[in-house]
Amino acid sequence: MNRDLAELPTCTRCVLSQTRQRVVVGSGPLNPALMVIGEAPGRDEDEGGEPFIGRSGRLLFQLIQEEVGLARAQCFVTNVVKCRPPANRTPTRDELSACRPWLSEQFQLVRSPLVLALGNTAARSVFGFEQGIGMTHGRIVTLGGGRGMATYHPAAALRGGPSVVDVMRADLRILKTLVAQ
Ligand code: URA
Repeated sequence: MNRDLAELPTCTRCVLSQTRQRVVVGSGPLNPALMVIGEAPGRDEDEGGEPFIGRSGRLLFQLIQEEVGLARAQCFVTNVVKCRPPANRTPTRDELSACRPWLSEQFQLVRSPLVLALGNTAARSVFGFEQGIGMTHGRIVTLGGGRGMATYHPAAALRGGPSVVDVMRADLRILKTLVAQ
């Protein structure tokens, strides 16, 4: 870890530091096939200290395995906001901008050829999309030296049922065409 990122576990740059249990930095190899970026930790992640270890994470990595052919162990997994917002509310603009430099540090460290952003908040923060995820999902974009895509957040798939899962599967099949190209 570089010097700055070593300070992430004790970050107090925004008010979420007052209510979180743990900073959820991210996990996975530093030379992954895919970097997966969600919105913010939920309750399971706040307790466990790892991103996407709850229900939505299980669905997400099942879909990635089935459609992209990658295991979680081949992915670096993180969030645009590293601390749990109370009651899982959407992070505020201040929280997003306070946390964004940490993600930039992680982009320097984790040289992934592919990036997948999940849901509106991550898609906007990572790719700068102005439109909502309904318009931007499945679009291939260039990002630094690599490429990226946004799809729906798996929590939306858990709420929205099979139709959202089907859209995610279709997006992930597009992502698969970019793996190791
Ligand atoms: N939702 C997210 O966006 N990230 C997590 O780590 C867990 C749930």
